[in-house]
Amino acid sequence: MKVIVCKDYDAMSKKAYEYMKECITSKKNAVLGLATGSTPVGLYKEMVADYKAGNTDYKDIVSYNLDEYVGIDRNHPESYYSFMHKNLFDLVDIKDENTHLPCGTTQADADAYEAQLQNANIDLQILGIGRNGHIGFNEPGTSFDMGTHVVDLTESTIEANCRFFDNDPNLVPKQALSMGIADIMKSKEVLVLASGVEKADAVKGMIEGSVTEECPASALQNHPNVIVIVDEAAASKLSK
Ligand code: F6R
Repeated sequence: MKVIVCKDYDAMSKKAYEYMKECITSKKNAVLGLATGSTPVGLYKEMVADYKAGNTDYKDIVSYNLDEYVGIDRNHPESYYSFMHKNLFDLVDIKDENTHLPCGTTQADADAYEAQLQNANIDLQILGIGRNGHIGFNEPGTSFDMGTHVVDLTESTIEANCRFFDNDPNLVPKQALSMGIADIMKSKEVLVLASGVEKADAVKGMIEGSVTEECPASALQNHPNVIVIVDEAAASKLSK
C-alpha cells in the first residue's frame, strides 16, 4: 500500500484527481469503479471542472458503482443512482449506457450485477471507507470471497448515513446491494480516500491492523496496487 497524507479534504481530492486524470487520459476507454458518499464529492468536482475546462472527456469511459440502497426508488434524491447523476454523470459526457449501478432487492438482482462485473475489468476503483472499516457496503464479518450480495446495513452505518435522511435513522434503508470484496480485489488499481478524524481508527485498521474480516478494508493489504490518500485527521492514528 502506498499511503499519501494530505493537509485537508481539498488537498486529498486534488491528489486523488491526479491519479484519476492519469487513468482517464492514458486510456480513453478506461473502466472506473465508483463510490458514493461524502468522500469522493471533491474528486468528482475536480473531474467536472477539468472536463469543463476542455482537458478531459468521458465519451468512452465506462463506470461501475460499488453499491445501491435496497428499498428506495432509483429516483429518490438519496439513491446512489441520483447521487451519481447529480455529482458526475449529468455534468460530463459519459454515455448513459456506459454507466452501471446495482439495482434491485434480491440476491438474483445482485447476481445479475455480478454477471456484468465478470467482464468489467475495472482499471481504477475509487473507495471511501466506513467508520467501521467497511468498503462498499461490506460490513465487518463479511467473507472476503463474496461477490455482489444483499447486505444488512449495521447500526453504525445507518447512524452514519442518517445525515442524508433528515437525521432520522428510521428513514435510512436497512439493506443495500454491494459489490463484494472479491470484486473489489479484481480491479487493477485501488484508490482509497478518507477524510476526518472519525475515519482514523478505520484507516489504522486498514493499513496497520491484521488482515481480518472484522475490518473489511484490511483485505486491501493483499492487493498489489493500492494507493491510500488521507487527510491529516484521518491519518492521525497511524504510527508512522
Ligand atoms: C459508498 C460506499 C461506502 C462509503 C463509506 C464512506 O458507495 O461504498 O463504503 O464509501 O460509507 O462514506 P462517506 O464518504 O459518506 O463517509
